[in-house]
Amino acid sequence: MHILQALNWRYPVRKFSDQVLTEQQVDTLLEATRLSASSYGLQPYRILVVKSKALRGQLLDYSHGQDKVLHSSHLLIIASKTSADQAFIQAHVQRVALARGVKSQELADMEAFLQHSFVDVSNRQFVEFSQQQAFVALGNLLTSAASMQIDTCAITGIDIAGFDKVLGLAEKGLSTTVICPIGIRHRDDRRANAKKTRVSFEQMVIKVSQ
Ligand SMILES: Cc1cc2nc3c(=O)[nH]c(=O)nc-3n(C[C@H](O)[C@H](O)[C@H](O)COP(=O)(O)O)c2cc1C
Repeated sequence: MHILQALNWRYPVRKFSDQVLTEQQVDTLLEATRLSASSYGLQPYRILVVKSKALRGQLLDYSHGQDKVLHSSHLLIIASKTSADQAFIQAHVQRVALARGVKSQELADMEAFLQHSFVDVSNRQFVEFSQQQAFVALGNLLTSAASMQIDTCAITGIDIAGFDKVLGLAEKGLSTTVICPIGIRHRDDRRANAKKTRVSFEQMVIKVSQ
């Protein structure tokens, strides 16, 4: 499917069918999301996949009645890191060294820079950074899903503290940023027929000529 066709096909699903996505579909989508760009490649977030209806039933209590949290194939949760420490930066530097075949010591300047930029800053600044990166992953997730004809609905209107409690995220140094039920649209979902509303191309794009 052409990219513009896929993006016009996508809409925020209100009602999912009972169809369950295959493990391979879900894993391909997760792999596409793992490949998202992130600032310095730090990927300060994790993606949780919840299939269990029992667990999703608990999360529904914190979803302001948005029952697609329960009634969808799978529920994805993008959770951002809540703090950065030296070990987080070192793990990143080691990954880079391993992938590119250089010694970690040769990346000492990069490590010092990342430490200064992400560890020696206020926690609020780091949380803001990690949430921004999580939203980049969300964008990629939505687009990748559309290209695979998998339906989605990004949701931020939830009780974050409730999600974090049910999923035990504080212990993992994470907090929910955005959730995304995935699956296949219900044939009776009237939202599928709603026209997209966007500012025009001319309003959106400012071609700077000088
Ligand atoms: C970051 C983000 C958060 C959203 N949160 C919610 C939400 O809490 N509940 C919901 O039903 N839709 C949510 N949506 C879906 C938007 O309402 C939807 O994308 C918007 O109406 C535009 O429709 P479109 O996606 O077809 O362009 C969210 C979308 C994004 C990108």
